[in-house]
Amino acid sequence: MASSSRGHFSSRLGFIMAAAGSAVGLGNVWGFPTKAASNGGAAFLVIYLAMVFLLAFPMLVAELTIGRHGQSNPIASLRSIWTKNRAAAALFGIIAMIASSMILSFYSILAGWLMGFAASPILGMLGLQTAADWLVNFSDLRNVLLALAFSLLTIYVVRKGVADGIEKWSTRLMPVLFILFGVMIAYIFTQDGAMEGLKMYLIPDIAHITPSLLVDAMGQAFFSLSLGVGAMIVYGSYLKKDVNLPKTAAQVAAIDTGVAFAAGLLILPAMFVAKNHGVEIFDAAGNLMSSGDLVFTVLPAMFDNMGSAGVLLGFGFFILMVIAALTSSISMLEVPVSCAQDELKMTRSQATWMIGGAIALLSIIISLNFGALFNLVANVSTVYMQPLLGVVWAIVVGWVWHRNKLLDEIKQGNPEIAQSLFWKIWPWYVRFVCPVAILMVFGYSLI
Ligand code: PFF
Repeated sequence: MASSSRGHFSSRLGFIMAAAGSAVGLGNVWGFPTKAASNGGAAFLVIYLAMVFLLAFPMLVAELTIGRHGQSNPIASLRSIWTKNRAAAALFGIIAMIASSMILSFYSILAGWLMGFAASPILGMLGLQTAADWLVNFSDLRNVLLALAFSLLTIYVVRKGVADGIEKWSTRLMPVLFILFGVMIAYIFTQDGAMEGLKMYLIPDIAHITPSLLVDAMGQAFFSLSLGVGAMIVYGSYLKKDVNLPKTAAQVAAIDTGVAFAAGLLILPAMFVAKNHGVEIFDAAGNLMSSGDLVFTVLPAMFDNMGSAGVLLGFGFFILMVIAALTSSISMLEVPVSCAQDELKMTRSQATWMIGGAIALLSIIISLNFGALFNLVANVSTVYMQPLLGVVWAIVVGWVWHRNKLLDEIKQGNPEIAQSLFWKIWPWYVRFVCPVAILMVFGYSLI
């Protein structure tokens, strides 16, 4: 059986760092604050928190449980539950693999830009202004080369395996990310204008709570917790049987939500600090600039205005983004790699190079046809595939899996769970509420 030779996370902390590393990414540091900023700040925050608690967290437990049960790649883990319909298990496992590869292909392009923005001020300081400018200006060549550089980083970590690559790097990088965040938030609060941003972030304006806000918040919650595409199924499969799944999932969700919240504490005040420095953050019509502009124009302009502290701060900010992106991208690549390893009997190194290479090629194709492909790939994978696959996993756990067998799995690591409130609510919740609620919100996004 494949499981005997499989890697495992060596400790619970290692797992939490890796899973939180997957969850904490550009979605938190960039997506969440910019969505909050353009959707009334606190209004978005409140709805987002509700979505995480009511939909994303129960689904995170479901996905981790599927993986931990199968102790194998997502296709085989699904098969271990869907014993009567192995073809469906394989089909949805493959769709999940495709979705995670698609996300990785556009994510690498964004992360590449962030690497460029991190390196640019340093090159500028060294007097290499032309190179510094090249790194921050949109061009096909820059997009391709930086996406390739980021893809190589991802391949490097995943090739090393679960404990030596994914866990080791997540455990190293996540604390760096927490510290950088703390320092930067503390700094931004010493600046004029920060309070205005803080007010916008923390005082809800009910007028902003609309149905489309629900759609955005659910999409954001699913993306942020890396749901749907098999990443949490495969990370769950590297968990040992003595781990308490609901508790661990709650910790991962709490870290993810905490980092998103902290990113808001950084970005919204930073916007208004930038405004104080004369940087435009609203367009002529009074609307907030688009999210790309916020991260790639507003923030760098603010750092520029801050002298040498700004250079350091800018470097810190973009490095933070790259770290967050890397601990996420490795979980995306792990989905197809684990499948190829078990199902096609490839070595980890072969699988990582082949699949990582193919996805990098996709990133190049998207980079060279940016206008036509970037939003298309991002939308298909995150707006359609993530929630719909989430519905499939809810059906697998809620309907296909026999309740007693599910209990047997979740009991390991938590022997008293049968008497808990969690067990009274969660199984029927995943059975009825999750699929219906996800489909309702998804349906609304179509009209
Ligand atoms: N959770 C990541 C973020 O918030 O940026 C994105 C992500 C990672 C999505 C892994 C999907 C995935 F499988």
